[in-house]
Amino acid sequence: GGPGDHQAEDATISQGVVESNHAGFTGSGFVNYTNVAGSYVEFTVNAAQAGNATLTLRYANGTTTDRPMDIVVNGAVVSAARSFAGTGAWTSWATTTLTVPLNAGANTIRATATTANGGPNLDKITI
Ligand code: GCU
Ligand code: CA
Ligand code: CA
Repeated sequence: GGPGDHQAEDATISQGVVESNHAGFTGSGFVNYTNVAGSYVEFTVNAAQAGNATLTLRYANGTTTDRPMDIVVNGAVVSAARSFAGTGAWTSWATTTLTVPLNAGANTIRATATTANGGPNLDKITI
């Protein structure tokens, strides 16, 4: 899709499942990353023109342990082991925002867990 919200539950999921048992998500659910390193969700986003864009990821982490993820755009790591700290509850959703470079046309944005705990629960990205 183009600019706007991209639901994690509609994206490409490797080692994760779509669930809806923790309130506060948008769309129809969220992705529960399998608790392994390397689990990921990948979005395809179209950009009208090349340039930097603001990327926001909405997530929940009901533990007190960080769940870092690499943010990878078109195969390049743009934020290594980015923090997805505990949000207090699986029903408490937070956002993290960064600037990412996009190409004109289709772009892939992948969020890959870097520890054995897997990622947080991921609701959506906005770009
Ligand atoms: C619980 C929770 C899941 C979460 C998981 C985890 O099982 O219900 O939504 O993904 O913990 O620790 O990753
Ligand atoms: Ca999980
Ligand atoms: Ca969602």
